[in-house]
Amino acid sequence: MTLRDSTTRSKPGGRAQPEASLSRILVVDDDASVRTLLRRLLERAGYSVEEAPTAEAGLATIRTDPPDLVFLDLQLPDRSGHSVLEEIRSNPATRLLPVVMLTGFASSEDKVRAYELGVTDFLAKPFSPDELLPRVRSLVLLKLFADEHEHAEHMIVTLARTIDARDPYTAGHSARVAEYAELVARRMDFDGTTLLELRRGALFHDLGKIAVSDAVLLKPGPLTAGERGVIQKHPVVGTELLAPMKTMLKTLPIVRFHHERLDGSGYPDGRSGADVPLTVRIVTVADVFDALTTTRVYRAALSREAAYEIMEEEVRRGWWDGEVLRELQAAVAERETPPARDAEIS
Ligand SMILES: [Fe+2]
Ligand SMILES: [Fe+2]
Repeated sequence: MTLRDSTTRSKPGGRAQPEASLSRILVVDDDASVRTLLRRLLERAGYSVEEAPTAEAGLATIRTDPPDLVFLDLQLPDRSGHSVLEEIRSNPATRLLPVVMLTGFASSEDKVRAYELGVTDFLAKPFSPDELLPRVRSLVLLKLFADEHEHAEHMIVTLARTIDARDPYTAGHSARVAEYAELVARRMDFDGTTLLELRRGALFHDLGKIAVSDAVLLKPGPLTAGERGVIQKHPVVGTELLAPMKTMLKTLPIVRFHHERLDGSGYPDGRSGADVPLTVRIVTVADVFDALTTTRVYRAALSREAAYEIMEEEVRRGWWDGEVLRELQAAVAERETPPARDAEIS
């Protein structure tokens, strides 16, 4: 394979970019000349570069210490580039890792398949630094932003867990609400993006309780009107905390409206009927179900049947969505039922 090596040309603005020193790039290609050329070009721009001559060697690095960008050959001696890409995308730790596929003689089917598997970009061989470096820079910056975003989201999840943990009775509440909500949404055929928004909303729904003091949050006796007022602000406080994050935009209605009732008797806005979106109805039902079936500071846990009885009555009163409750009941029952054995099917 011939490669156009133009590294000897001095490039204006070819100095190392500040983010380059923070970034590790992995080149997975069985052709040593391609690896050497990429290494030379990228190292000159300030990146640190690792090489892997086989799919398995590349995946070993990606699994143990994921780089910030991968150049991946389509045809490797031991596995196809497609299958490497598939593994990268199926691992939560590397699902956002930018992968640039190196293509020499790739057919359009190969490219379509790579797109379907979530390739970030293609780079046709032979290549020159002029096309390589600007693309690498934008991909590396994207990865740094994605890392920052994941870090911020991780911090909020930790914060949500911390709030649950303040009250020993509600430890794990947000995670369970997210799990119930997701089970219901899957039964209702939600798409992947909406599922993610729903899950986030459920995880963060009580984030605003951070502003409620322990004296009120953990009070065993009945609350005064003033104390109830403080607690009832948590949907608004949670929304205000998350609002500056752009990626939380679709999550905000869930946080703000999770105490609304379909007849308009909920808080904080007294929304009703169609003004309460389906995602909110699902989280609300999951929230109420978990609250009833776990021990609280003011009462013992109810059995599942007793909780359903109360919630069915509340559906009749016009508070909750009856279809969502039925889906929750079916989802919980399904989760409890062990899958049928093959022998019993045949
Ligand atoms: Fe709440
Ligand atoms: Fe809650």
